[in-house]
Order: sequence, then structure tokens, then C-alpha cells
Amino acid sequence: MTEQKTLGAANQIARVTCIGGGLIGAGWAAHFMRAGLEVVVYDPAAERATFLREYLAKAMPALAKLGMAPDASPTRVHFTTDMEEALEDTNFVQESATENIDAKIKLIGEIDALTAPNVVIASSSSGFLAADLRRGVRHPERILIGHPFNPPYLVPLVEIAGGDAASLAAAAASEFYISTGCEVVSLDREIAGYIGNRIQYAVLREILYIASQGVADLQAIDRAIASGPAIRWAVMGASSALFLGARNPTAYGDYAEGLADEMERYLAPPDFQPDRQLMRAYGEDVLKGIAANGQAELMELRDVGVVAIRAALQPAKNT
Ligand SMILES: NC(=O)c1ccc[n+]([C@@H]2O[C@H](COP(=O)([O-])OP(=O)(O)OC[C@H]3O[C@@H](n4cnc5c(N)ncnc54)[C@H](O)[C@@H]3O)[C@@H](O)[C@H]2O)c1
Repeated sequence: MTEQKTLGAANQIARVTCIGGGLIGAGWAAHFMRAGLEVVVYDPAAERATFLREYLAKAMPALAKLGMAPDASPTRVHFTTDMEEALEDTNFVQESATENIDAKIKLIGEIDALTAPNVVIASSSSGFLAADLRRGVRHPERILIGHPFNPPYLVPLVEIAGGDAASLAAAAASEFYISTGCEVVSLDREIAGYIGNRIQYAVLREILYIASQGVADLQAIDRAIASGPAIRWAVMGASSALFLGARNPTAYGDYAEGLADEMERYLAPPDFQPDRQLMRAYGEDVLKGIAANGQAELMELRDVGVVAIRAALQPAKNT
């Protein structure tokens, strides 16, 4: 048990390995680099080296505005197609390979075999359970979910799942993520999709229903979200914002009871289940409208906007 006691203390983490160098792996590399850590990115696809360099260059303006640690530099992010080399002397592993359960179980097994047992291995999976990813490893007590939001260098949330069966690793991972500037939410019990993605898909289901009823197009619905509920959610989340909608806060129980009727009247009927055909049509609509000019402009809008929101919220968080 001495191994567990020394599981990844945050102040001893100097070198992080990102397994998978796609959108999320590169985003994590940018985040850990900003925190002043040595980062090694492993991906079997050699062309990911160029993707990583270009990704870091594009992220730099936002990273600089968020503030870089004194020794943070893209020169401290290394790329390799050799997993053993990537894991040598590593202090923390963030796995962000393709979302496929069998491939991830196999990959986590390989990482486990090549990594010192006191190192936490966190998976960026968007919805798998750590209980499944641990199948077949020698050291299950250090396997967790550390789920980010895209892009990890901008959106501070990390959801830690699986900590109910790996509490020392979860505590160490939480301390580490916070030390790099993340906001951590630890789930008391694992559930597929965790918190954020379940909420995103519940919202998406309503978007699809509203659009299918000819109420508004996708651009108008996005504007209604961004300038309406989402602007409050960025500050305080949904339940806090709803509470402020009650004139008599002491009778909030009565107010909340009334919401049961509103939800029954407003929500898409339970049998409205978006199928693959509907999702294909939705994707084509996005391409024709919201995405007609590609991703570059939207990415810039996101980066500039999120940095500004984080800066604006900082004083409130410090009080
Ligand atoms: N895209 C998102 O918005 C988002 C958000 C949060 C979490 N995630 C999760 O992050 C993970 C990665 O998603 P992504 O969007 O970066 O996908 P991606 O397709 O952009 O990148 C996946 C990368 O994994 C690499 N890969 C495949 N097999 C590998 C292996 N055996 N070892 C190492 N690398 C391997 C691929 O070459 C590719 O570069 C997934 O688990 C996904 O669910 C995605």
C-alpha cells in the first residue's frame, strides 16, 4: 500500500504524458504547457506532430492572455510515436485517444504496464466508466476519468469520475488539476456521460425538437442560448439562476413544485428520440448555416470570448 500513499502528489508533478495527440490531446498539451510543465505527447500517427505544432501556435494568443507560468514554452512540448519513451519517468498520464471502448481498455492496459505504479492515469473519455477502463490492468486503483471540455486550455472544468473506487488517485488528480488552473468537479458515483455531457445532450434534444417544429432556425436557437440562459450559467449554474427567479425565496419549495407543471407542458414529448437520420439532417443544416464559413472565425470568437469571460469572472471567484 506504500505505492498508493505516494500516488502523484501535485507538487511532484513536473512531467506529463498526453496519450493521443488529436483535438483533446493537443488541447491538454497546451494547458499543461501554460502551467509550466514538461509535456510529452504520444500518438501512433506521425502526422500529429505537425498538427500539435500548429495547434499550439494557434492557441498561443489565448494562452498568453490567460497568463503563462514563468518557464512555460512550446519548446517544452515534445512529440513521439514511441509510447515507451513517452511514459518514461512520467508523473501523470492524460489519455485522449479515439473514443472506442475496446481500444481504450487495451490502451489503458498498455499504459498501466509501462508506467510506474504511483502515477495516476486519467482518461479524457467523454462518457465511458472508469470501472470498465480498469478491466485487465495490474493497478486499477490509479485509473480514473479526468474529463475535460473542448478545448482543455480554455474551458477550466475537469470532471473526475471513478474516484469512489480510487479515492487516493482522485484526491491526487484533483490536487494536480487545480494546481494547473482547472476547476474540478468530482462525481460521488460514476454515471455514463458524467454531468456536463448529459446536460449538453439534454439541451441538444430540445434544440432538435424546437427546430423540428419549425419554431426557429439553428442560428436563432444558438443566439437564444448564448444571450439567455448560458450567460447566467457561466456565472452560477442552472439551479442557482433559477432560484433567483422566485419572488419569495423562503417559499422556494412551492415555486419549485410549480416547475413540475411547466416542465410537463414545455419539454419535448418522451417519445421524441433523435435517431441517426434526424442527426444526419441536423449535421447538414449546421454545415449550411452555422458552419457555412468553416471553423476559423468561430474558433477565434470562442477563444477571445472565453478568455474575456474568465477574466471578468476572476474577481467574483476571489471574493
Ligand atoms: N472532441 C471533444 O469535444 C471532446 C471533449 C472531451 C473529451 N473528448 C474525448 O477525448 C478523446 C479524444 O477525442 P478527440 O476529439 O481528441 O479525438 P481525435 O480523433 O481528434 O484524436 C484522437 C487521437 O487518438 C489517436 N490514437 C488512436 N489510437 C491511439 C492509441 N492506441 N494510442 C494513442 N493515440 C491513439 C489518433 O491518432 C488521434 O490523433 C476521446 O476519448 C473523446 O471522447 C473529446
